[in-house]
Amino acid sequence: MAFPQTRLRRLRASPALRGLVRETDLRAEQLILPLFVSETAEGREEIQAMPGVQRLSIAEAVKEAGEATRLGLGAVLLFGLPAEKDREGSAAWDEEGIVQLSTRAIKQAHPELLVVTDVCLCEYTEHGHCGVLSEDGQVDNDASVDLLARTAVSHARAGADLVAPSDMMDGRVGAIREALDEEGFSQTPIMAYSAKFASAFYGPFRDAAGSAPAFGDRRGYQMDPANGREAVREALLDAQEGADMVMVKPALAYGDLIRAVKRASRLPVAAYNVSGEYAMVKAAAAAGYLDERATVMEILTSLRRAGADIIISYHAKDAALWLAE
Ligand code: PBG
Repeated sequence: MAFPQTRLRRLRASPALRGLVRETDLRAEQLILPLFVSETAEGREEIQAMPGVQRLSIAEAVKEAGEATRLGLGAVLLFGLPAEKDREGSAAWDEEGIVQLSTRAIKQAHPELLVVTDVCLCEYTEHGHCGVLSEDGQVDNDASVDLLARTAVSHARAGADLVAPSDMMDGRVGAIREALDEEGFSQTPIMAYSAKFASAFYGPFRDAAGSAPAFGDRRGYQMDPANGREAVREALLDAQEGADMVMVKPALAYGDLIRAVKRASRLPVAAYNVSGEYAMVKAAAAAGYLDERATVMEILTSLRRAGADIIISYHAKDAALWLAE
């Protein structure tokens, strides 16, 4: 008697027949490329811990957006690096701020490309926390929520197709939804960073954005990596407040939660393959320890298998090129 495994193995070994028995697909349109747009960068500035990723001037960001369009990526996700930071992070909601100007420029040059904007204060506050501080130096949740809502509205006004709050303040999804609706943006969806963990994997990003907290850490508002059920609860709360998509972040060590959130909510689920996950692959590949292409494709496929509908990845352009071959 022949074993069915053996027969299937023959299908899987054949490039022509593999698709028939493949459970998970990966397509460029499922990938989102993060872009760092900088008010001070002249052209492109290398980011030390993220080889291949740069801080971009607006003109360079428009070029990257063109590249993303040609490669058929699902969207770009904008992070703003302002020239000046202050106590409140006022550059975040400045109508002439770096994200607002970049969004307008990209939408004008590539109207068909989806532009997602990261909504947070940590790149804009001099202390590097994701919200404003009260007198006692603690992050003031409610005051922060008002400023985040204002920021989201300014992004929508600039033409953002989707806003993505990454601050993890409580109640911000509801407040942002209400503010968008009031200002005539009821059609702008919210992709909520719902289950965002206080993670060491964000190290390279904070270097890129100069947003490491000047004191303390983010454990007051980001989640404890030990808590999985809480991640599901956060996602369900965001859904109730009006989120249109929910996110799990980081991705690689959190596949169980991508799956759990996918099961519990009925919304599209995004996974954020973060800066430290990118840097690990880059460093190991540069040392000759890993095959970059094979590793990246395995990671992205595995995140899809775990349940991610959407993957945010600094490898998005490479992956799209490899998929097209
Ligand atoms: C801002 C924000 C961070 C990331 C996305 N949005 C940094 C943080 O919370 O410290 C991390 C992205 C990455 O590491 O790639 N709140």
